[in-house]
Amino acid sequence: RLLPLFAILALVLSGCRGENFVSALRPAGEVADMQFGLMKLSTYVMIGVILVVMIIFVIIFFRFRRRDDKDETIPKQVEGSHTLEIIWTAIPILLLLILAVPTVSATFRLADVSPMDKKNSDALVINVRSHLYWWDFEYPDQKLVTSQELVVPTNERVYFNLKSLDVKHSFWIPAAGGKLDTNTDNINKFWLEFDDKRSNEAGNLFYGKCAELCGPSHALMDFKVKAISRDKFDAWVTAMQDIKEPQKAQSDLAVQGQDIFNKSCIGWHAVTPENKMPETARMAPNLTNFGDRARIAGILDHNKEKLKQWISNPETYKPGNEMTGKYGELSDQELDAVAEYLMGLKVQE
Ligand code: CUA
Repeated sequence: RLLPLFAILALVLSGCRGENFVSALRPAGEVADMQFGLMKLSTYVMIGVILVVMIIFVIIFFRFRRRDDKDETIPKQVEGSHTLEIIWTAIPILLLLILAVPTVSATFRLADVSPMDKKNSDALVINVRSHLYWWDFEYPDQKLVTSQELVVPTNERVYFNLKSLDVKHSFWIPAAGGKLDTNTDNINKFWLEFDDKRSNEAGNLFYGKCAELCGPSHALMDFKVKAISRDKFDAWVTAMQDIKEPQKAQSDLAVQGQDIFNKSCIGWHAVTPENKMPETARMAPNLTNFGDRARIAGILDHNKEKLKQWISNPETYKPGNEMTGKYGELSDQELDAVAEYLMGLKVQE
């Protein structure tokens, strides 16, 4: 009879193993550590309260139970006890203080975005803009734009301005902490820090999610964060800034793909990274460094086959996305060419 129970338990546990990197219980950054500390503190306080209450309950249950049917004595009735009243007022106050002081202090630390406002601060600022099912990342000081994959330096505070261009979304990188709504009518600000300790099969990659129900593809509104050393980050910024015009296709097939792309897609997808106005150039994910990315559309494995499948039928993979129906049908050969071209858009080897 226990077998199904064990089977379910095994399933649950196996589910946990592969997805550890989306767990807030394995913190990999200053904010995440802070939040994990608060979670542990409140859990310990709760366990303590439950234990004490349960122990008193069990003792009273047995000590004061009716011993036999003829026992009609009523226990001693107590009315008003200053000592007891002080004890049961003081203990909860003390517990609330133990929870409140670290929580409020963490809240203030997290809300301190003052380096963003200082003209000569070298704080890295990133403007995050959410759209229905994809993410746009702008580096205002570096004058760069990228999409779907955020690149950040490790071991330093990164400051975020969060905004949405359509409906309410929420920016969440579980292992780095945080989680804050992106709204259309105001800008939310906070900072995160990314440890270099965390490694998975794709390097120091953090997984990001949309955490606010926003439409049929809400659960698929993923993004990735590549956390690299400051040196590598600076090199990435320079390499991106060097791209002033679309990269040249490397093969005949890619050249054909670029032609198709220039006819059908470039009106939406930019393949240069500068953050120039007008806004219309940023209404679909920027693809400048598409070839370097770890996922297609945030969710699919990054290979040519998957890319062809995505382009030929985006609606299957992300229902309700804006790309569907924006271009005519492509033949398999044309898909092959476009995929070849896009996979070749690399900024770093
Ligand atoms: Cu965007 Cu949920």
